[in-house]
Amino acid sequence: MATCVRLTLFCVLTFVARAADDVVATAVAYAKAHPQGDVPASFVATDYQGDLRDLPIGVFDSGVGGLTVLEAIKAHDRHHNLTGEDGADGVPDFAGERFVYFGDQANMPYGNYSAVGRTGFLRELILRDALFLLGRRQASGDKPPVKAIVIACNTATAYGLEDIRAAVKSWGIPIIVIGVVEAGAQGLAETADGAQGGVAVLATVGTCASNAYPKAIAKVTGRPVRQLGSASLAAAIEGDPSVKTPIRDIIRADVGAFLKSAAADGAAPIDTLMLGCTHYPLVADEITAAFAYWREQPAADGRKLYAKLVVPQLKQVNPAAWTAEALWRSLHAAKMMAVAKTTSGDQFYISIPNPQWKGVSLAADGTLAYEYKYGRSEGQIGREDTINVPMTADKLPGATAGLVRDKLPLTWRSLQGAR
Ligand code: DGL
Repeated sequence: MATCVRLTLFCVLTFVARAADDVVATAVAYAKAHPQGDVPASFVATDYQGDLRDLPIGVFDSGVGGLTVLEAIKAHDRHHNLTGEDGADGVPDFAGERFVYFGDQANMPYGNYSAVGRTGFLRELILRDALFLLGRRQASGDKPPVKAIVIACNTATAYGLEDIRAAVKSWGIPIIVIGVVEAGAQGLAETADGAQGGVAVLATVGTCASNAYPKAIAKVTGRPVRQLGSASLAAAIEGDPSVKTPIRDIIRADVGAFLKSAAADGAAPIDTLMLGCTHYPLVADEITAAFAYWREQPAADGRKLYAKLVVPQLKQVNPAAWTAEALWRSLHAAKMMAVAKTTSGDQFYISIPNPQWKGVSLAADGTLAYEYKYGRSEGQIGREDTINVPMTADKLPGATAGLVRDKLPLTWRSLQGAR
């Protein structure tokens, strides 16, 4: 009997391991089988054989939240542009670079796939995002290939960073791949400034389930970590019409539930918030306000409910700036900074449903129907149930456009010039 149980467990574990490996192996084999880059999820193999320095840098997210990372990259100035020495010189470090941004909005929220048992499919989506950036195909013509991939999405970093790195290695292409999670942990360590209290990681449910942040933070500090996973905040910031609750109310409810369970567990006082979702810097003030609100709420005995659990001046860590620094270091070390010094020409793309694809099912508002979106499985890397089209400022939902215009001015300007 015991042998039988052990054998079954062995078979299950072997199957899980093989299924996991298959996601990468399938993507690798598929792109290798299409070296002309003429089908989805493929790239032109010869694009990666010459001098890559003047290719753009690719940045992707599940939606528009990754624009916060692009903004941080564009604003980054921690080095002297001519010598590479540390220290700002008044010229952004990436001033000579071009960017290709992609938001997989049709398939978002990424943060909810793990909860419905679709982690394998999510990993395939993330590999497809990387392949889109590497390739030249887009819905209305050509796009340039890229010399680096920035995974400007915490959930995608948690579930796909290692996959993309493994695939790039198998393809034998000298592409730099950067994720936001290690960068965020590094930022926490470098900005601690004596802070020793608890760290609250605010992220998607999926990022929290992966434990990517607690693991990355444990490598740089022994501070206690508690996670707050929100199922709807990123989608609400994205302007998802199916989320009816106002953003401020979502944040307040999420933070209230988080503090209630932290208090019940006797958690250590929290002094730092990790903005572990690319969308959250857009509502950073509302997040701080929600913690302040709950801190002041009186309990039945009149004492403040969470005064001891939350310090009055919370620090926030935004992984974006640290991602920019990690990108600069990698490009610089690989001698892959641009030499042509092109200052314009960023491109932006977004995915939309492809109603022509057999079996695709749309909701009344034209987005992928929930059951369809979360009912898919891995194993069809070349599927084209969504297509990637140029994204311009006028295609963003009004509220999202307002947030980008007000909070991400460099990106907004670049988006204005995008075709
Ligand atoms: N951009 C994702 C992140 O940083 C969140 C949005 C989503 O769930 O798709 O985790």
